[in-house]
Amino acid sequence: MKRYEKFADDIAELIRTGVLAAGQRVPSVRYASQTHGISPSTVFQAYYLLERRGLIRARPRSGYFVNDSVRLQGLSDDVTEQDVRPAPALSESTEVDVSELVFSVLESIKDPNTVPFGSAFPSAGLFPLQRLARSLASATRDMDPRMVVSDLSPGNPALRRQIALRYMVAGQMLPMDELLITNGALEALNLCLQAVTEPGDLVAIEAPAFYACLQVLERLKLKAVEIPVHPQQGIDLAVLEQALERYPIKACWSMTSFQNPTGATVPEARKRALVELLREHEVPLIEDDVYAELYYGQHAPKPAKAFDTEGLVLHCGSFAKSLAPGYRVGWVAAGRYAQKVERLKIMTSLCASMPAQAAIADYLQHGGYDRHLRKLRHSLEDQQRAMLGAIARYFPAQTRVSQPTGGYFLWVELPAQIDSLKVFQAALAQGISIAPGPMFSPTRRFQPFIRLNYGSPWGETPERAMETLGKIIRSMMAG
Ligand SMILES: Cc1ncc(COP(=O)(O)O)c(C=O)c1O
Repeated sequence: MKRYEKFADDIAELIRTGVLAAGQRVPSVRYASQTHGISPSTVFQAYYLLERRGLIRARPRSGYFVNDSVRLQGLSDDVTEQDVRPAPALSESTEVDVSELVFSVLESIKDPNTVPFGSAFPSAGLFPLQRLARSLASATRDMDPRMVVSDLSPGNPALRRQIALRYMVAGQMLPMDELLITNGALEALNLCLQAVTEPGDLVAIEAPAFYACLQVLERLKLKAVEIPVHPQQGIDLAVLEQALERYPIKACWSMTSFQNPTGATVPEARKRALVELLREHEVPLIEDDVYAELYYGQHAPKPAKAFDTEGLVLHCGSFAKSLAPGYRVGWVAAGRYAQKVERLKIMTSLCASMPAQAAIADYLQHGGYDRHLRKLRHSLEDQQRAMLGAIARYFPAQTRVSQPTGGYFLWVELPAQIDSLKVFQAALAQGISIAPGPMFSPTRRFQPFIRLNYGSPWGETPERAMETLGKIIRSMMAG
């Protein structure tokens, strides 16, 4: 019996014997983990199992509680119909409470010996870190002491100019005034959502969505209206339109290119239609475009921002995925919200790190960014091919998988009876991390899905890890 099963049984016994009464709160994940000497992810797994057995239930932001009508029979581990939540065309709004699951998964990928299929980052070995270090040294050596004042938000002018130039080369004229440098795209996304909403507001998000989006909603006390993402077409515009008509939605958050986790890219005509639809409803679009440079085709897909004439799109980008992980430099072109977002930035963290900004500005001018990007794109495309091959070799025949035209994630649909949280646990025990589907939904859908990262060079270790994953999944089908 696994540790989480044993712990779940112990709690079930407390419920059965009335020690934990109906409506009572069960120990928090952190507390249980400390007092029982088990990892938070083991506790979470146990609670998830108890939830599926109908014994406890999560209440947003409050923890887990014993169900009022506890079912004492049927304590089996089998998936019941009740577990398989249908994917409704248009969901009701949902309070968001995913952090426990997300943190337990993120914790698991910190170990450098773990095969990082569950990671959100590409391998650091793919980046020109030595060349960047030279830019950092030379930019800081020549740094004018007055920069500590002149480079406060909106940020280093040379860097903002370089970013505006890149927009221009891609065909988009962007006034530099719109650009604000942030501590990674994540801060930009946080500030943007904060700028356009009040606590309690409804936000249209993708289903599945990047888990950090869910966490931002959770932090800002916003409610999610989930809009399905089609593997080829991206966010479903018909459902979004229904949602905009039915609910007082205050913002829409979308990754229109190489969506995390599905890899979907919204075709250009639909991006235009998306902007038009949101314009009709006066709803701002927070566009997360952190993988913009990681395209495998001839050209980068245009962002929705390219079709925005009203300043309603807040376009967030980053160097973390394409050049300089760890430097924490991102940006937003915030349209008509630029001033508001900048003020929030000043109130939150004043400005982004000046040496990091100066280093990237120097690298963009002299370092050969485009050459590096061409190499990076080729590597990622080759690695995608290798991982798709491994899935074909080792995973069950019923497996379905996306084939994105950029980025570094595959979204894998396993046979319906497979619980990806169990795959996560079993794989972790063998030193392999994966990202299980439920971490991408506030309603914990996508149970038989996993997201796999192919951002590391291929070789014997990932190949064997994929073989092991395949075995784990097949064994769960047999059992
Ligand atoms: C889809 C997506 N958006 C935003 C971010 C955050 O980017 P940054 O590292 O620049 O804060 C990430 C990082 O994992 C991401 O995957």
